[in-house]
Amino acid sequence: MSGLFTDLLKLLKHLKREDICLALALLVYLTPFYFAWHGKQLEDYGISFYYHLVAFSLALLCWCLIKIYSYKKSSHDLEKSLTMSISSDGSLISAAKILGLQTPMKSSYDPTLASEDDRLMIQAQRSEAIDCKAFEIALKYLKEKNGRIRALDVGCGNGNVTFNRFGRYIDAFQSIHGIDKNPSLINSANAAKEKNKHGDKYFFQTLDVDIPEFGPSLCNEKPSSYDLIFTALTLHHFADPEAALEDLFKLLSKDGVLIARGSDDGTKICYPESSYLLMKGIIDATMSVEGISDRHNGRKLYSQFKRVGFDLVHMVNHISDTVGLSKQGREDFFKQSFSYRKDYISRKLEKAEPEEKGKLRKQLEQMEGALTKLKNDFKNSKDFYYCEVTFVAIGIKK
Ligand SMILES: C[S@@+](CC[C@H](N)C(=O)[O-])C[C@H]1O[C@@H](n2cnc3c(N)ncnc32)[C@H](O)[C@@H]1O
Repeated sequence: MSGLFTDLLKLLKHLKREDICLALALLVYLTPFYFAWHGKQLEDYGISFYYHLVAFSLALLCWCLIKIYSYKKSSHDLEKSLTMSISSDGSLISAAKILGLQTPMKSSYDPTLASEDDRLMIQAQRSEAIDCKAFEIALKYLKEKNGRIRALDVGCGNGNVTFNRFGRYIDAFQSIHGIDKNPSLINSANAAKEKNKHGDKYFFQTLDVDIPEFGPSLCNEKPSSYDLIFTALTLHHFADPEAALEDLFKLLSKDGVLIARGSDDGTKICYPESSYLLMKGIIDATMSVEGISDRHNGRKLYSQFKRVGFDLVHMVNHISDTVGLSKQGREDFFKQSFSYRKDYISRKLEKAEPEEKGKLRKQLEQMEGALTKLKNDFKNSKDFYYCEVTFVAIGIKK
């Protein structure tokens, strides 16, 4: 009996207001038939046929109105959460405006943040397989030069990815040149080179691709200096990625290969819907922060490669998702794709004028709150699913 009662309660909990209205309407409508069944006439109770017809119609109308109202309200809520986000001045702006694919300003990315080291390490591990796939394709094109390949890693950071990726195929290479605009990262790369058993093949140098001399001095004076150029998660930080690609194209020898890895916020999706809306809000809010890098870099690689002159372009894309990951794995995934997003606001806050600080603090607080919730979904929600695509373009210079 108590089981039946609990089931009934469960059923009632799932009923919506409009369903209850419909049930009442049916009750009003069916009552006269009950009376008729018991041999009574409706008139005996002072109820006319017209009365119950009107009551039923009113209840039905009520049901329709509630249904329309609920539908409008839910679609408005959805639209609101999808299209509103926090602008750099703390006010709400529309995502459509941001997603109007604004030309990104120069990225204010700071790879020396302590947390960034950790995050890049996670990212390096997660993209190992796709990079290896790209290297293997590239090395097939370069097999004539096996053992004599001259390589360049653009935006090599502290060299962690450089040593790992090139190190796997070290015998194929004659020299590996790493450049990065950040001198402290180049110092770390040089320190690691000392401990590497093939250290003599590596050469690291501080060099900013965005300086006006990069094209004319390095690329024009030394065209065809490299057979393989690799650049991971760096193009979108350049002031003009396509101009930089043109420079790299010049640096490549005939039949040389350029590998570029990028990511794209547009490929990030998750479920349940509430987590998706939260994630979308975080992405939109990051997009609006001045100094953010181009978060739609991945989708552009193929076209950019074609435009700068690569006739032959392969794309190796990889979908990674949360399925089968441990709790730690899911937390790492969150860290890789989302945790750093508050850093852009923090840096802006550090440099802000006193009158701007209040709004930025509020924005940072909102971002931190949203990130904490999303992290929780990644870590603890049993039915949570997230996936994203990594893009690697491989261009062969004919
Ligand atoms: C996201 S990190 C990627 C580092 C490394 N490739 C990896 O996959 O771990 C981007 C790197 O690009 C470098 N970078 C950004 N803009 C640059 C520029 N204009 N010239 C040279 N390096 C740049 C940064 O200093 C940083 O080390």
